[in-house]
Amino acid sequence: MLISRPVVSSKWRALLEQLAEQTAGNPPDDLPAIIREELGIDLTARYAGLTIAHPFGKASGQLSFTRQQVEADLAAGIGFVVLKTVVAEGPSGSRSMSDWSNPETRMRVETRTEGNGRRGWTVTWSGRGWAGSLDEYTEFFSETLRLPNPRNVPIVPSVKYNLPDETDEVVESEYHHTTTRLYQVWDHDGPGGPMVLEKDFSPTLAGDDRSASRDRILRWVESVPAWVREAAPHEVRLGVKLMNAMFDDAFQVEMVRVASQAGAAFLVGFNRLFDPGAHVAFGGWELSDRNCRVLDLVRAAGIDTPPLSATGNISSGRVMLEYALRGCENGQVHTFFQIPQSEYLATGGSRISRALHTLLLHPSQGLVVGLRHRHEAGHLEARDGLVRFLDVVGTHPVGHT
Ligand SMILES: Cc1cc2nc3c(=O)[nH]c(=O)nc-3n(C[C@H](O)[C@H](O)[C@H](O)COP(=O)(O)O)c2cc1C
Repeated sequence: MLISRPVVSSKWRALLEQLAEQTAGNPPDDLPAIIREELGIDLTARYAGLTIAHPFGKASGQLSFTRQQVEADLAAGIGFVVLKTVVAEGPSGSRSMSDWSNPETRMRVETRTEGNGRRGWTVTWSGRGWAGSLDEYTEFFSETLRLPNPRNVPIVPSVKYNLPDETDEVVESEYHHTTTRLYQVWDHDGPGGPMVLEKDFSPTLAGDDRSASRDRILRWVESVPAWVREAAPHEVRLGVKLMNAMFDDAFQVEMVRVASQAGAAFLVGFNRLFDPGAHVAFGGWELSDRNCRVLDLVRAAGIDTPPLSATGNISSGRVMLEYALRGCENGQVHTFFQIPQSEYLATGGSRISRALHTLLLHPSQGLVVGLRHRHEAGHLEARDGLVRFLDVVGTHPVGHT
C-alpha cells in the first residue's frame, strides 16, 4: 500500500496547491497539458493501444447512456468513454441474453464502510443492460461519434453477447449481427482504424446460476474473443471486462490466465462484487482491495497478460496509482463520478470536470502528487525533465502486496 501523505518538496507542493486553487472554480479541459507545463508531470496514458491524455476514463454504465452525458465528458476532458452495455441481438431482434435488458431503475449512492473502518462509496441499483433495442443503441453510438471531439477521445461500445452453457452451441447470429451493426456505424461515423469494443461479464452474471460452474466460465472467457473475431467484418480491438466470479482468488487468477491466452486485445479488471444475500452488486474498498490482491497474484504467477485496464473504487489518484503499479495503463470510473459534489476539491465546473480535477490535483490523494512523491523518493526517474505516469505501470515488486 502507498503511504497516505506523500512527501514532496515544499517548493513543488506550493506550485501544486497554487494550480489546484487557480483551476478550482472552473477546471479546464486541458488540465493535463497545464500539469505537464507547470508541474513537470506527464500524465499520458494508454487505452486499447491508443494514446490518451490521462488515465481516467468513464466506465460503462448509467453515466454513459445518453448523448448529453458523453458530450459533457468530452467537454470536461475525459480520457475515454465506454458506453452503456447493449444486449446482443440476432437479425430478427431475438436476444438470448434478454434477462440482461431491463428498464432503468433509480440508483442510490451510499457510503460503505469495510472491516478496518475505511469509508468508501457504492451505488445500489437493480438495473442491468441498455433497456432499448440494438437499433436505438446504434443510433446512440452514431450520435456520440459525431460529437465534436478534437482530441480524438476514444468512444467505445460495450456488448453483452450470448454465453452458452456447456452443451449448447453459441448463437453465432447474435455475435455476427450485433458486431456488424456496430462496425457499420464505426465505419461511417468513426475516426478510422480498428473499432474498439468491450465485452462485459457483469456482477449479476457472476451471481446468476449460469455462473455456478467454473468450467463454463472458463469456456466463455476462452471462447468469446474468437467468437467476436469470427463475427466481425473487419478488425475489432476487443477488451474483455472480467467479472469478480463468486469463487476464490485462485479461480480469479485462473480466469485471467485463460483470458490472457484467448486473444483479447486488453482485459478490464474486475467488475463489481456481488452480494448474493442482498442480491445486489457493490463496490468500495472491498472491491479495490480484492482487485489489487488478485493483480498481485497474477504477477506473482508470471502470467503474461495483454494490456490491463483497471476498474473498481477508483476514488482517488492514489487508488489509480495502486492499480498502475500492478500493471494497469488506465482506470475506468463510475462511482466516483456520482458522489456528492461536496467531496470534490473544485467549487465550479461540471460534475465530471470537478471529479477529474480532484483525481489529478488533490494535495494528498491526487495522482500528480503521488507520482511526484515516487520521483522524489527515488522510485521513478524523470525522462527529458518529465515524471511520466506510464513509467510506473507494472513496477510494483512482484511478491509484495
Ligand atoms: C449503476 C451502474 C451501472 C453499471 N452498468 C454497467 C454496464 O452496463 N456495463 C458494464 O460493463 N459495467 C457496468 N457497471 C460497472 C462499472 O462500469 C464499473 O466497472 C464498476 O462500477 C466499478 O467501478 P466503480 O467502483 O468506479 O463504480 C455499472 C456500475 C454501476 C454502478
